[in-house]
Amino acid sequence: MSASDAPTAAELKREVARRRSFAIISHPDAGKTTLTEKFLLYGGALNQAGSVTARKNQRATTSDWMELEKQRGISISSTVLQFEYKGCMVNILDTPGHKDFSEDTYRVLTAVDAAVMVVDAGKGIESQTRKLFEVCRRRGVPIFTFMNKLDRPARPPLELLDELESVLGIAAFPLNWPLGDGPRFKGVFDREHGQVHLFEKTPGGAYRAAESVKDIHDPLVTQTLDESTYRQVCDELELLEGAGAEFDIAAVEAGELTPVFFGSAANNFGVQLLLDRFLELAPPPASRESGSGKVIEPTSPEFSAFVFKIQANMNPKHRDRVSFIRIVSGKFERDMTVVHTRTGERVRLSNSQRLFAQERETVDDAYAGDVAGLVGNHDFLIGDTLSSDPKVSFDEIPRFAPECFAFLHNRSTAKYKRFQAGLEQMLKEGVVTEFNLLDAIGIAVPLLGAVGPLQFEVLQHRLENEYGAETRLENGTWSFARWMKPKDPEKTGEELPSLSMGVTLARDVHGSLVALIPHEWALKTFTDKNEDWVISDQPFPP
Ligand code: G4P
Repeated sequence: MSASDAPTAAELKREVARRRSFAIISHPDAGKTTLTEKFLLYGGALNQAGSVTARKNQRATTSDWMELEKQRGISISSTVLQFEYKGCMVNILDTPGHKDFSEDTYRVLTAVDAAVMVVDAGKGIESQTRKLFEVCRRRGVPIFTFMNKLDRPARPPLELLDELESVLGIAAFPLNWPLGDGPRFKGVFDREHGQVHLFEKTPGGAYRAAESVKDIHDPLVTQTLDESTYRQVCDELELLEGAGAEFDIAAVEAGELTPVFFGSAANNFGVQLLLDRFLELAPPPASRESGSGKVIEPTSPEFSAFVFKIQANMNPKHRDRVSFIRIVSGKFERDMTVVHTRTGERVRLSNSQRLFAQERETVDDAYAGDVAGLVGNHDFLIGDTLSSDPKVSFDEIPRFAPECFAFLHNRSTAKYKRFQAGLEQMLKEGVVTEFNLLDAIGIAVPLLGAVGPLQFEVLQHRLENEYGAETRLENGTWSFARWMKPKDPEKTGEELPSLSMGVTLARDVHGSLVALIPHEWALKTFTDKNEDWVISDQPFPP
């Protein structure tokens, strides 16, 4: 970067302050895709809703890699959507959300500053939402809740709030309140401004819903709602006011309180209220700790970023590799030279791309909070730091405990070398992790672990298509991996925990001891039996 290009302090301050980078998390079918699309519609990035959901059905035909996405009709690659809205630069990091979700889904959450949690109001908190929520909570990321599908019969709103507290353990503060549910759902009451928003449906929800904003006693409101709904809403609002809870933005920022919105994404009811208030309340890019304990501010003039996702061979013709970086500080400029701090090498970032659905466009500059895809055969690994200051090195992205295990057999001995090379690459990219069973002397078949079974499918598909290696999977019977170390720090690490039914011991790639456990009940027995051990679902820091 030449001196003349150096960003000014005012430019960095302005650009950082207006950035909002977040993920939408949900259980499959709760409405994440629909809400994403409606954010784009209301954000002005789409003229008409329909294309994101269409994306589900007409995946790119540009590569074999995409072929798998197309066959499954799901999003494997996380796409980053960026648009400007009301002065904000909005980055939505898409989390693959099918029930076969993978470690990528979790990793995306290490690159966001906030999350919008979509809950199907008819169903309440579902399993995958809970897992994703936990990852956000561990990072202390602010979480906003959207109770969706109020146009269908929904659980009582007070019960839904209770569930946030009892199941997720997070306090909830409703910023708006639904006026009825199912066919009687007509709008929401904005508690902050004391106003009712009545909505009108548009065909297929393709365009913005017309709305009237009224006082709750306005005749239009009393005429639109049936009498019992009106009375119930007034009672509920009185109850909420009576409870006297104050909205505490500091608790939201600390991830201890979730602001709650109600609506219907498919009908565009409550979408704008959510988007506007979310962008006002959600924090701009945060500072991040560098390994040395130094805190890197997003407005620091030194460029820094970390790799949170790698995807190889998105276009097999070019055998390219895209490393997605989240910018932490400074200004990214195309062609800039930075230090890859793990290797100490200087690299030129010449081919940087931003992805919008299937289209790619070149990124010329970007700031903290933004994501760019670096195309090329760099030797980047997930968690690597790129920085203009070689001393900056961000903490590694945590690995997430696998829940699926399988032995991978190579079908053709003649192609063993290809199999090995491919597997090595996939392990490097973090597609799956490898374990070595303690009692596996003589067994050469690798045991692999993944967060979701989809990762195995991707692995096999890629080994075959990119390396010509056909494989066979043999499922393991375990469902949990737990890292183990003796509580007594004096112990050398030679001793092993007591085993219980179905539990097998292994070592991860770093040689750390891991117990592989078949089911919930066995996990409990094993934990009870090993009170002298620290048992963690995360590897211990070195
Ligand atoms: P996901 O990404 O979380 O998996 O969910 P997605 O948005 O794909 O939504 C899942 C289904 O729920 C879709 O129906 C979608 O239309 C529907 N949906 C989303 N929001 C609402 C809402 O506010 N009200 C109602 N009633 N339905 C909603 P589908 O039948 O799977 O697809 P489609 O044919 O409707 O597109």
